[in-house]
Amino acid sequence: MPARGHSKNLVGVLLSGRGSNLVAILDRIAAGELEASVVLVIGNEPSADGVQAARSRGVPTLVVDHRQSPSREAHDREMAVALEAAGARLICLAGYMRLLSPWFVERFAGRVMNIHPSLLPSFPGREAQRQAIEAGVRISGCTVHFVDERADSGPIILQEAVPVLDGDTPETLGARILEKEHVLYSRAIALYFSGRLRVEGHRVLGTS
Ligand code: GAR
Repeated sequence: MPARGHSKNLVGVLLSGRGSNLVAILDRIAAGELEASVVLVIGNEPSADGVQAARSRGVPTLVVDHRQSPSREAHDREMAVALEAAGARLICLAGYMRLLSPWFVERFAGRVMNIHPSLLPSFPGREAQRQAIEAGVRISGCTVHFVDERADSGPIILQEAVPVLDGDTPETLGARILEKEHVLYSRAIALYFSGRLRVEGHRVLGTS
């Protein structure tokens, strides 16, 4: 467990790529600004940079390559065994670009969060920043939400707005949103472990 880790607020992270949100969370923990410990990082892509980033920071990692599993549920069951063995109480999707099976969502009901680079329910799915620019919205942003069986769906915990500027490309807008993501995810994790959040229908109360 990392030196500044927390013995109860145990987080598992699932990712598919770069891992900058994971690194931001680890940095907040290391700075003593987030009382949590990342106990396991699982990548579904063997080449994911995020897995390497976790490894180099001494965080336990696992690659569960979805291409090696007979089904989505079989893949998710393998991840679940590892997450439970690691004691993860909260599971954070940080650029995990796969749908979770109904089995996994049910197993960890109310304990899985995702971050997405738009103000949901606008622009779910891939290339959210491009979708925002093409739709002509003046304000986009990022969302942390509890996960259900659909992509980028589920009760919204926190959102942060980001202006869309005239000259924006998906890359420039994405970079501006990412800065906000890196702060927002840790805030949502802290709120979760504060025990104040409660879900009523599609609403999450206790954030304000
Ligand atoms: C982030 O922008 C995250 O919001 C997005 O993937 C990126 C991962 O970046 N997630 C989704 O689009 C989920 N639908 P990272 O690997 O550097 O954290």
